[in-house]
Amino acid sequence: MVASSVVRRLVACPRQHGRRSLRQQVRHVVSTQEPEILKHQILAETTVSREHLTPELALHLITPTCRLWRAPPHLSPFPDPFWAFYWPGGQAVSRFILDNPGLVKGKTVLDFGCGCGASGLLAKSVGAKKVTFNDIDEVAIEAVQLNASINKIMVDDVTTTNLVGSAGSPHQVVLAGDLLYDSKFAGEVLTWLQEVNRSGSLVLIGDPGRFALEGHPLKASLHCLAKYELAPTTLLENSGHPQAFVWTFS
Ligand SMILES: C[S@@+](CC[C@H](N)C(=O)[O-])C[C@H]1O[C@@H](n2cnc3c(N)ncnc32)[C@H](O)[C@@H]1O
Repeated sequence: MVASSVVRRLVACPRQHGRRSLRQQVRHVVSTQEPEILKHQILAETTVSREHLTPELALHLITPTCRLWRAPPHLSPFPDPFWAFYWPGGQAVSRFILDNPGLVKGKTVLDFGCGCGASGLLAKSVGAKKVTFNDIDEVAIEAVQLNASINKIMVDDVTTTNLVGSAGSPHQVVLAGDLLYDSKFAGEVLTWLQEVNRSGSLVLIGDPGRFALEGHPLKASLHCLAKYELAPTTLLENSGHPQAFVWTFS
């Protein structure tokens, strides 16, 4: 199947997205649309899918049945719809939480770079005390609200603040699903996550083996908690990465 250039740009070639400057990466993605209009657009351009590692959760996603799967970028109402895909790293973190609910039960959790919000929503569903959903893209936050609603899960807290580089984290658990898609940005993120870990938070990193993590010196500070085989639909979107891993600091 030939994916659209919207999908290919975002998913099949993460390196391409990674060529953006760091400044571009951390800018807030502010939409000019009202939340209700955004929600309407998300519902119109996505379909509800459970074809991933956590079928317990229904998600509004762009799949091969959607117009945007094939449409060129200029026909997309969303500039960079990362939230419209459930990335392999996020899927691995989510599966790991579902299989080990004690890690988040009764804890405060940050879903950093939450995208569709799946990892944070599942943390909440297995008993996290409070989940903060964080993404610099305001459209992602609307997608999280829709995904929470369809699964009847409450959203405690959201923020579009760029937290990378801030001092530690007040959260007991920090989830980072598929944030290491660009070498420079991955360096910033890993350094910050190491600091967050040193300040006392449990950090769970999900990644399918992207170049930015594999080649980074801090990889030696991580150990692997789990490895998962990805579903066929995820493979369609992520050529070259048949598995996804969960890492934490040693
Ligand atoms: C590859 S997607 C992963 C989404 C989700 N965690 C998953 O695994 O499905 C990366 C997400 O991180 C967000 N992002 C990028 N830089 C960020 C930053 N500095 N702070 C918070 N979110 C950021 C993007 O908007 C995007 O939604």
